[in-house]
Amino acid sequence: MIRRMRQVIVAANWKMHTTPADAGELAHTIAARTRESGVIRVLCPPFVCLAAVRDALEAPDVAAPDGQGVAVGAQDVHHEPAGAYTGSISAPMLAGLATWVIVGHSERRRDAGETDELIGRKLLAARASGLRAILCVGEQLEEREGGRAAEVVERQVRECLAGADPGQFGTDGGLPWLTIAYEPVWAIGTGRTARGADAAAMADLIRATLGALGFPARGEEIPVLYGGSVTSGSIGEFLAEPAIDGALVGGASLKPDEMAAIVARAALTATARAGRAAG
Ligand code: 13P
Repeated sequence: MIRRMRQVIVAANWKMHTTPADAGELAHTIAARTRESGVIRVLCPPFVCLAAVRDALEAPDVAAPDGQGVAVGAQDVHHEPAGAYTGSISAPMLAGLATWVIVGHSERRRDAGETDELIGRKLLAARASGLRAILCVGEQLEEREGGRAAEVVERQVRECLAGADPGQFGTDGGLPWLTIAYEPVWAIGTGRTARGADAAAMADLIRATLGALGFPARGEEIPVLYGGSVTSGSIGEFLAEPAIDGALVGGASLKPDEMAAIVARAALTATARAGRAAG
């Protein structure tokens, strides 16, 4: 029996690190050291490094044995296709540079005042331009300590997707148009991680919310990643949870050794899932 299987994804968020002079070499090194079948790899460098990373990833020695290359993602996108928006980058401008995009990262919610409503518009802009979106959600420390984490994440998912047609955000060629990254804000860059079981509970809640919004298969096709201080040491705890489909990695994603170990661990999960799906 062939059962539905969600892809395992490791996405690297390089944040405001690397320059056009060094990003290509780093991307190539990471890609060449993460050639594992069954894992979708996505590198998200700063905008100005997208071309260098794209070019570096065209090298023949970065494809995994299953033929999968490494995708390039942007870290943000404007909600309008063009206009008087100084300093911004629109989805159509990313054509040929990126095929994925992160939207709603907590650092942009914090630094650029992005709201769920605005993030929802960015999701639609990304989809309209054929970019696969990684939507970030996650609670603040005081929200978790106040017992409101679930309520906050559910609201973020609902409000960010309020204007989306669920039928447009399924999968295409096995790849999802929407991936959700659960990134508790208190775990980002702090060395503190959520517990695997707590992240899995949040992934279940996210899928239940997608189901309530009318997503096909009650949201079961949408990958949910964990993000927040993921390293080679902590990835196993998250991937041991069937509800978690991979990671959005920050600091550790700039380190080839870390990425090699993280993707190798992700490949074990991908292999186990493929075995179960076929068995
Ligand atoms: P760190 O892995 O550095 O905590 O960052 C996580 C993150 O924000 C990924 O988007």
